[in-house]
Amino acid sequence: MITSTLPTPDSVGLHIAIIMDGNGRWATARARPRTMGHVEGARAVRRTVEHARRLGVGTLTLYAFSSDNWQRPKAEVDALLRLFRRTLAEETDRCSANGIALQVIGRRDRLPATLRRAIADAERATAHGRAMCLRIAVDYSAREAIVRAAAQLARERSPRADQPAFARALATAMHASVNVGDVDLLIRTGGEQRLSDFLLWECAYAELVFLPVLWPDFDADDLDQALCDFHHRERRFGALPRAVAG
Ligand code: FPP
Repeated sequence: MITSTLPTPDSVGLHIAIIMDGNGRWATARARPRTMGHVEGARAVRRTVEHARRLGVGTLTLYAFSSDNWQRPKAEVDALLRLFRRTLAEETDRCSANGIALQVIGRRDRLPATLRRAIADAERATAHGRAMCLRIAVDYSAREAIVRAAAQLARERSPRADQPAFARALATAMHASVNVGDVDLLIRTGGEQRLSDFLLWECAYAELVFLPVLWPDFDADDLDQALCDFHHRERRFGALPRAVAG
């Protein structure tokens, strides 16, 4: 059971997305194989999910494997896919007990059958969760999602080719069972400052926070710090600053 302090009112219901970068460098700095960085990264995932749940975050979307990551050495890809399967199996009960609905977004057709089954089992077992939606992006490409959604709407000759209809098609294109809406805060660890084809549509008005910390070292304080930064930003969505608008 995740021990619960009261959720921070400011963070309740937010959609936070994280590009978890730096696993390889974390391992290399310790003269360990890169896959050890991913194993340690999975521990950081667990810590982050627990803390986000405590804070009352509505949706947490984690970028675990981009469609471009297939270009990595086969041994690393295989180790990552095995780690996802193991982590899903290990975390399903805890998610279920803590009201966390787990969903995997991205393409399914290129994943091993064993992983596809583990995803379906985890999604089924946690579907009742209402406290937080945890989305793991695996074989995910935002550009591909956008192209697929556009093709879908064109095929349907939809009379409602507006933004809500597109957002729904986008969710369907990447197997998300619900459209959870825009990202409020996007965090990228590891020091790079780019989006790497992650949630390009959904991040239209996201606040971006780039942190130097390598993902395996990311902890509750880092998430608190990023949220503190977020809460000090003025989100204008294209309108005038409050002080000027009066
Ligand atoms: C980026 O670091 C990280 C990944 C491509 C994999 C992310 C995977 C995990 C955090 C493991 C577990 C996740 C789940 C959801 C079970 P990198 O390898 O690009 O690091 P580098 O930039 O230092 O090389």
